[in-house]
Amino acid sequence: MIRDDREAAGQLGSAFAPAKLNLALHVVGQRADGYHLLDSLVVFADIGDRIEAFACRSGDGPTLEIAGPFAGQLSADSDNLVLKAWRALHDAAELPDCRLRLTKNLPIASGIGGGSADAAATLRLLAALASVAPPPSLMAEIAGRLGADVPMCLQGVALRARGIGADIEPLGGLPSLPMVLLNPGVAVPTPAVFRRLARRTNPPIAATLPGFADVDELAAWLATQTRNDLEMPAMEEAPIIRQALDAVSGTAQCRLARMSGSGATVFGIYPDSAAAAKAARELARAHPDWWVVATTANPQHAPA
Ligand code: C5P
Repeated sequence: MIRDDREAAGQLGSAFAPAKLNLALHVVGQRADGYHLLDSLVVFADIGDRIEAFACRSGDGPTLEIAGPFAGQLSADSDNLVLKAWRALHDAAELPDCRLRLTKNLPIASGIGGGSADAAATLRLLAALASVAPPPSLMAEIAGRLGADVPMCLQGVALRARGIGADIEPLGGLPSLPMVLLNPGVAVPTPAVFRRLARRTNPPIAATLPGFADVDELAAWLATQTRNDLEMPAMEEAPIIRQALDAVSGTAQCRLARMSGSGATVFGIYPDSAAAAKAARELARAHPDWWVVATTANPQHAPA
């Protein structure tokens, strides 16, 4: 308790790193450098990691401590995207010395943002602590250097992402989505999934999205008009993903079951939070070794 009070007193700030969910992910081409061109609809959930900054003696920063359920699977060395984000912004803006703590609530290498969300949250947190606020264009440029998904995580609102992921258009008019997220316990390396793609040039998402009156309309449109082109190659890489998708689509009232990003996390969309909570309980009972949570994606009020 004493430690908590002292820590709270020394806390400079904190930022939430929400899980990123690709409602749709079409692979529409490939650049000469190997990166793929995407057309993706992305929302963010009300669960995620958290990054905190604490005061430290001048000249001591930054150090990174990792806590939380998935801390054991991640090392706090200089390759960690949180420290890379600190270094990138430190080179461009005046930052206070600080100690960073990442609470890792999301599974690693799981298609829901993870390191990219943590890097984006670190940039947001440190920008708020900088003596002069870095301009948005600098933040976007640094985010793009850190990884293809970091710019979208920096936005943190429902969006359509094109190019390699950094051409972003915020999307209004999407309903809040009661969801279950399920990860069958395998870490899937993104490059391996892209390498297994059979076709690299697939049709994009419709140029203009229709309006959606409710979750059912959105889920029906997603199911018939969109895809995740990485689902097949990811299932070849990790066959357990098919079991995960079958398990989610078999729950009562599941309107759509799909993989996010390059997997292995899959999500189910439900008409209301009670149906999502019930499905999560059933899935957790049937698969005690899998990570299962009920959440709301695209919440109307972003968690602080
Ligand atoms: O940019 P980031 O380091 O997050 O990307 C990880 C890997 O995912 C890349 O090295 C590349 O193999 C693949 N990727 C891709 N096309 C994208 C994004 C990622 O091929 N648009």
